[in-house]
Amino acid sequence: MADSDVLLRVDNVVKHFPITQGIIFKHEVGRVHAVDGVNLEVRRGETLGLVGETGCGKSTLARCITRLYPLTSGTVDFDGRDISTLSRRELRPIRREIQMIFQDPYGSLNPRRRVGSIIGDPFAIHGIADGQERKRRVQELMELVGLNPEHYNRFPADFSGGQRQRIGVARALALRPKLIVCDEPVSALDVSIQAQIINLLQDLQSEFGLTYIFIAHDLSVVEHVSDRVAVMYLGKVTELASSNELYNRAQHPYTKALLSAASIADPDRAEVRQRIVLVGDVPSPVSPPSGCRFHPRCPKAKDKCVEQVPELIPRLVNGQSTEAGHVAACHFPVEPGEDLALATPDISQPEREAEAAGVLSQERP
Ligand SMILES: Nc1ncnc2c1ncn2[C@@H]1O[C@H](COP(=O)(O)OP(=O)(O)OP(=O)(O)O)[C@@H](O)[C@H]1O
Ligand code: SF4
Ligand SMILES: [Mg+2]
Repeated sequence: MADSDVLLRVDNVVKHFPITQGIIFKHEVGRVHAVDGVNLEVRRGETLGLVGETGCGKSTLARCITRLYPLTSGTVDFDGRDISTLSRRELRPIRREIQMIFQDPYGSLNPRRRVGSIIGDPFAIHGIADGQERKRRVQELMELVGLNPEHYNRFPADFSGGQRQRIGVARALALRPKLIVCDEPVSALDVSIQAQIINLLQDLQSEFGLTYIFIAHDLSVVEHVSDRVAVMYLGKVTELASSNELYNRAQHPYTKALLSAASIADPDRAEVRQRIVLVGDVPSPVSPPSGCRFHPRCPKAKDKCVEQVPELIPRLVNGQSTEAGHVAACHFPVEPGEDLALATPDISQPEREAEAAGVLSQERP
């Protein structure tokens, strides 16, 4: 991909949260490996979907990208510039260009402030417009996102859930950003309202040439809105492909399992998708499993999976290469037509016992 097509490049980004003990003399007793070496590119004008189970690091990655969190290591290039080490002052102009929309339209709006002044915040912070000019711009934004501009003086409690998310969208849009990171923007809304907000986001994208990172648990939502989709598991990207390719030719057993869970919720698909039930819970991100992090739950796991971390690279399927840009972090990618429900793990006993005793994860951090 030409460099000029790439708006955002995430290179080996790591974010660990230290776990400390002691009140006065704090010492580190462990680390939450929330994001553990993520590489991603986001192209200008596209929507990149980001999915994965709860706790896999989606929001942490979003906050690293928007520089709400400092990185443990790695770099984030935005519009050709490394923003990962910029100071607060140097970040100010970048903050205009990268905005975030949050899941909780209730929690992210101050209930005691009028909607007009909430939406006008970005103008105030960046000293862009004041007085009547600010009011005019805010009312223009309200109209753009489908709110009645005459409701300028109302409070967040006077609006429904969907309308409050429109307030969040208006605020994010105020400074005409290039990138909007949408962290589960519709998860808290009724299904009927979700479609309205998604349509609004899509209309705004084509009108203003916006680029989105769209985070969700629900694969069917992500499929609908995304050009490409990245799947995360325990702090790592496990598979990335165009939406169509991922949904029709997923190679990673974890993606297959997510798709099968989504199909159970969607009766139209239930017949064509295999039903794969994942065993066990997501392991703790404090001491992630050795090798492939998915191996304790993977129906295809073999000894190699316990020992070697699989790289996120293009994989051959039936000896053939797949669509350009399709990458999977799996030693034994799923072949077309393969029935994962029939697969059984083949990990040698000593490895399993050592794993259960936590020996392997200590030896191979
Ligand atoms: N500020 C923090 N301090 C310590 N641990 C954190 C912090 N924020 C997140 N974590 C941990 O990091 C891991 C990743 O959390 P994160 O919120 O990024 O996941 P997520 O994929 O967004 O989950 P969800 O789908 O529930 O929103 C979790 O184990 C979480 O408990
Ligand atoms: S590398 Fe092994 S354990 Fe990991 S997903 Fe692939 S087959 Fe399963
Ligand atoms: Mg989250």
